[in-house]
Amino acid sequence: MSILTETYSLSNGVNIPKLGLGTWFIDDAEAAAAVRAAVEIGYRNIDTAQAYGNERGVGEGVRTAGVRREDLFVSTKLAAEIKDHDTAVAEIDGSLAKLGLDYVDLMLIHSPQPWDDFRGGDYAEGNLEAWRALEEAHRAGKIRSIGVSNFLQSDVENILARGTVVPHVNQILVHAGNTPSELIAYCDSKDIVVESYSPIAHGEILKNRDVAALAANYDVSVPQLCIRYTLQLGTVSLPKTANPDHMRSNASVDFVISDADMKALRDLDERDYGDSSAFPVYSGK
Ligand SMILES: NC(=O)c1ccc[n+]([C@@H]2O[C@H](COP(=O)([O-])OP(=O)(O)OC[C@H]3O[C@@H](n4cnc5c(N)ncnc54)[C@H](OP(=O)(O)O)[C@@H]3O)[C@@H](O)[C@H]2O)c1
Repeated sequence: MSILTETYSLSNGVNIPKLGLGTWFIDDAEAAAAVRAAVEIGYRNIDTAQAYGNERGVGEGVRTAGVRREDLFVSTKLAAEIKDHDTAVAEIDGSLAKLGLDYVDLMLIHSPQPWDDFRGGDYAEGNLEAWRALEEAHRAGKIRSIGVSNFLQSDVENILARGTVVPHVNQILVHAGNTPSELIAYCDSKDIVVESYSPIAHGEILKNRDVAALAANYDVSVPQLCIRYTLQLGTVSLPKTANPDHMRSNASVDFVISDADMKALRDLDERDYGDSSAFPVYSGK
């Protein structure tokens, strides 16, 4: 069975494909073709966000991919800066309008803090307001599953204590070189599926010689090893590429990393994101 047909079951019974296509840095004008290519190859899980500026193109790709809408899993994210209920309500509808879709399968709060204050101030109340808007849209059938992203345990606890729906997903930075094992275990304990974003460390891990040597032992590429690693952690993997050859090879991960090598990859500490270090998500906070 190809990884492309494998799914996890979210706590609400909705199935989420284990491998998805990340679309950060795919231009709006290129996004529809990338989504169509991915769907043609067999991808059924597409991840976008308001902040990526490509919801229009992603939606066009979803609508023109020649696959029934119900066979695709489409995610988007409420912008990190939105921390009040009424703006969140308006922007959820705005996403659906841009995507040109009646519903999305998953919508996440992109970050517990606005990006210019990442891991800074206390936005507990604002996150609850945004969460309430997501819960309402979920009840109204506009969003099949709701979740969070970049949430630490304390951020999740705030939602668990005062929300009415347990987040179905937490999408966080996970790759060989950055494995937040405690947070993953915490999410598992609450039946919250973890999605690994930047599973190839935004491309930086391609430069790591130890990882390259390990990949060679399995006769696979570094991206294949890294994607397989995040899948074997029990998480959804969301590699980004607009290149159909990369899409194909990223989905060709039908091998098993040994326990010893999983431990080596889990213990690896590699967080040099090069020119991308300026992005809050790679700030190491
Ligand atoms: N929730 C959040 O805050 C958050 C933050 C970051 C990312 N994300 C999500 O996670 C997705 C993935 O993260 P990411 O975009 O940061 O990085 P990534 O998937 O870890 O790495 C993408 C880089 O790897 C390259 N690549 C992919 N497959 C390859 C292959 N087979 N061979 C060689 N190079 C390959 C891509 O180049 P090519 O395009 O040339 O293939 C690109 O440069 C995003 O697109 C987004 O959907 C979410």
